Amino acid sequence: MNASDALALDFCGLSMSCPVVLAAGTAGYGVELNDAFDLAKVGAVVTKSITRAPREGNSPPRIIDSRAGMLNAIGLANVGIDAFLSEQRSTRSAVQCRLFGSVAGHATQEYIDVASAMDGDPHIDAIELNVSCPNTSDGLQFGECPVALTALLREVRPVVTRKPLIVKLSPNATDIVNMAAAAIASGADALTVANTFTAMAIDVNTRAFRLSNKRGGYSGTAIHPIIVRMVHDIYANVARDARKPIIGLGGVSRWEDAAEFILAGATLVGMGTALFIDPRSPLAVVDGLARWTRAQGCSHIAELIGAVHA
Ligand SMILES: Cc1cc2nc3c(=O)[nH]c(=O)nc-3n(C[C@H](O)[C@H](O)[C@H](O)COP(=O)(O)O)c2cc1C
Repeated sequence: MNASDALALDFCGLSMSCPVVLAAGTAGYGVELNDAFDLAKVGAVVTKSITRAPREGNSPPRIIDSRAGMLNAIGLANVGIDAFLSEQRSTRSAVQCRLFGSVAGHATQEYIDVASAMDGDPHIDAIELNVSCPNTSDGLQFGECPVALTALLREVRPVVTRKPLIVKLSPNATDIVNMAAAAIASGADALTVANTFTAMAIDVNTRAFRLSNKRGGYSGTAIHPIIVRMVHDIYANVARDARKPIIGLGGVSRWEDAAEFILAGATLVGMGTALFIDPRSPLAVVDGLARWTRAQGCSHIAELIGAVHA
């Protein structure tokens, strides 16, 4: 048995070569990291979040280093759905792994428009909804309020007919298990757990906010154990019985971090901040997972999903 056999697995009916995916907003539109390594070595790339219209995003500084992670306030800078689907078409066909399209918006209709456009694009294998945006009509965060999330999915779920629909949860929700239950009840095929934690950093010399947007999203090593707990709780309380796979995402930089997510109940494992430190770090994670699977006496990594609950 070779490494690729041990790591191959099914995700919502998609055959994946391995469980490692590159997280939204950290790997461009798909091909950018091809220069760093052969993308065929990972399972999927998630595009940066795409909105209906192009967005410049926030002014700099919009990424800063923090001791055990990173803060970002990119502000959803992206080319917009039309340019993504037309100008980026040739580059997307060069991606040798699965491509998941990330959808963002500030109004339900924007999510509907972008998700339905992606649903019709042959190069996109699955659609991930980034619900960590406030709804412009009521100011509520789609990802922090189960009523707002349910209302959003009631409209978006029917327009995604060809591809798995993944809902990316916000760790800022008071009760993320409740949000996961709402997403599943509203038709989500899978969950990504999770986006960044709302955070802030202040320069003590200038007495100014370090990010131009003042607030940003915190990611990286420090958040990993918190997200492991969230994956564990969502798997145990809702996802396992509903048979909905989880993408564990937060602070993975070593294979052991990815293995922890799998034992907690994740089917796939995302990597984001680690790519800024070493763009080739997914390769070591993939190799480590293959060795770990064999060392655990398993033929396939899927046998280890949720194993801590046994
Ligand atoms: C610079 C940067 C940009 C990001 N942009 C997006 C984005 O466009 N859409 C999204 O859903 N998540 C975005 N994220 C969040 C990541 O996809 C991921 O959920 C988060 O960083 C936690 O994973 P990590 O600790 O491995 O980075 C971004 C993260 C970073 C660091």
